[in-house]
Amino acid sequence: MSATSNKFSRVDLYELGHEEIDREHRAIYDALEAMWRTVPPDAIPELLENARIATRKHFEHEHLLMKIYNYPFLESHLEIHEVALKSFLNTINYPTTENLQELVDEFLNHILLYDSLFVDWIKSEQHRRSTDDRHHEVYR
Ligand SMILES: [Fe+2]
Ligand SMILES: [Fe+2]
Repeated sequence: MSATSNKFSRVDLYELGHEEIDREHRAIYDALEAMWRTVPPDAIPELLENARIATRKHFEHEHLLMKIYNYPFLESHLEIHEVALKSFLNTINYPTTENLQELVDEFLNHILLYDSLFVDWIKSEQHRRSTDDRHHEVYR
């Protein structure tokens, strides 16, 4: 569970074990969840726009990490992010309950299916690099 909140949230089930990425996912999720409590509903597009901007920034962070760790599926992951940003725009234009729910589900599914693979890659790459460094120290 996030250190910033003691309240259990559904997104806690989707923690990947990467502090920064988990923190960003939670912030986006919290922003999306806030919409359900928003009265009047006219304010929803603005909240969605804020969540979209936070998501775009988060995607840029993921892209940077993918480059740093030579992630082999970077291009495919980028395409999926583009589709997700289009879903945001569509929901901003048509903020129906169905579209809002779909957006939240898509976001959580993305974490579970794609980001979890990518974070596993980072972890194994970090391990490989530290092993490599130790080899160089021992065999120099
Ligand atoms: Fe992500
Ligand atoms: Fe992602």
